[in-house]
Amino acid sequence: MQTGPGPCHFVIFGATGHLATTKLLPALYQLDAAGRLGEDLRLVAFARRDWRLEDWLQHLELVLQQHTGPGFDRAIYERFARRFDFVEGDLREPEAYRRLMDELGKPRMGACENIVFYLAVRPADFMDVVDNLNRAGINRKHGRHRIVVEKPFGEDIESARLLNTQLHKYFDEEQVYRIDHYLGKETVQNLFVFRFANTLIEPVWNRNFIDHVQITVAEEGGIGRRAGYYDRAGALRDMLQNHLMQLLTVVAMEPPASLDADALRDEKVKVLRSIRPIPVDAVNGHAFRAQYAAGTVGGREVPGYRDESDVRRESTTETFVAAKFYVDNWRWRGVPFYLRTGKRLARSMSLIGIRFRHPPQLLFHDACDRIDPNWILLSIQPAECMHIELHAKRPGLEIDTRVVRLNASYRHETEGPMEAYKTLLLDVIEGDRSLFIRFDEVEWAWRVVDPIVRQWAREPLLVHTYPAGTWGPEEANRLFDREDHAWRNDA
Ligand code: BG6
Repeated sequence: MQTGPGPCHFVIFGATGHLATTKLLPALYQLDAAGRLGEDLRLVAFARRDWRLEDWLQHLELVLQQHTGPGFDRAIYERFARRFDFVEGDLREPEAYRRLMDELGKPRMGACENIVFYLAVRPADFMDVVDNLNRAGINRKHGRHRIVVEKPFGEDIESARLLNTQLHKYFDEEQVYRIDHYLGKETVQNLFVFRFANTLIEPVWNRNFIDHVQITVAEEGGIGRRAGYYDRAGALRDMLQNHLMQLLTVVAMEPPASLDADALRDEKVKVLRSIRPIPVDAVNGHAFRAQYAAGTVGGREVPGYRDESDVRRESTTETFVAAKFYVDNWRWRGVPFYLRTGKRLARSMSLIGIRFRHPPQLLFHDACDRIDPNWILLSIQPAECMHIELHAKRPGLEIDTRVVRLNASYRHETEGPMEAYKTLLLDVIEGDRSLFIRFDEVEWAWRVVDPIVRQWAREPLLVHTYPAGTWGPEEANRLFDREDHAWRNDA
């Protein structure tokens, strides 16, 4: 659905929440600073605080100063602030939506057939917002209105289907933008280019050359003030079912026919459909969970998960998950994909590691030695770069080898980093759905993860612990197929 130019109203539900504060507002401000927001884009902040517009603007200024750092510019802020209106209301209260509609209908806002409703709210509140928007008269009759929902979409396969059916009562699929901000990250987009614009890579990107794939998203941070959401979700639903599974599909997918939204998403679905289902009685051999205990992160002592504010003292929610999957198709059969993610780990780092097979003959070492295999390392953060590890001769009289690294960083020093939400918010405003998730992707991803969800619910007490500031429990290594498999903790 291309929305084309013209007035656009952008409503943020949950405007004072964590997501809006840390990601959405800074990204919208930066888009404005870059001249990418149309003159007639208006923003409406919807939140429960008993505020007037002036109070909201004071809050907005503080948020932007804090989250855009030295990039904060008063003149740009003032232009950005003029785009805003504020509507105070409870998400569950129909009356609040009438106030919102009145606000949207005011002459100052200008007539608009093109409204984005961004649900930066807890998943438990999605349906209240959707029902109330429908009651207030916003639904599929308005083909250009869009609704943006964050992950996780549902808590398991059944609840995801139910949520989807309810959404489709009022909105067409074309109007629903399911966001996974990992798809907006530069390295992830660069992976498409790396794979499909280089003839060198594709011929070796398969089971004949690749031994295994690792995907790590490690965070130093804990759960902050998000216990209300996180304690119910856990790492499996918060990260693995969506962000890590999306990364897996981008690594494993076949070249799409084009970069069209549907061509891309068809290929991703094919990967998800090929993932070997995990039998419920084999879950422990394929997935591992743990929770952080007190420890030291970056030289600072931090409490354990159960001592975080608003977490249940007896909580068994996992903050670390590692899992192993197989993609049973011609390209990948037999190649393990190891995925891991966790909070309060030793370092913040997101990395895709592709490990190649050992050479068939060891010419340069004693027969009993093993030569380090080649790796392609795609670092998503903190650095956005690619490395290829190869062997070269060690200088000297002997023929000996050592690992050298080809650094394929693609960002020049003068080019600043790009926040994923900037790309994705612009796509929402412009109506480009290629980087958003179609429902069948969500459904197939749940199908993969569902046996783990069900088995873990049956055995809630079997959760390991790890001290904050480490790489998680050693026991997670039991997932590896072979002794020479090990996590890479650096790019
Ligand atoms: C969010 C999760 O989707 O992604 C958070 O809900 C997590 O728990 C965050 O911290 C990580 O995103 P990023 O872009 O900081 O890696």
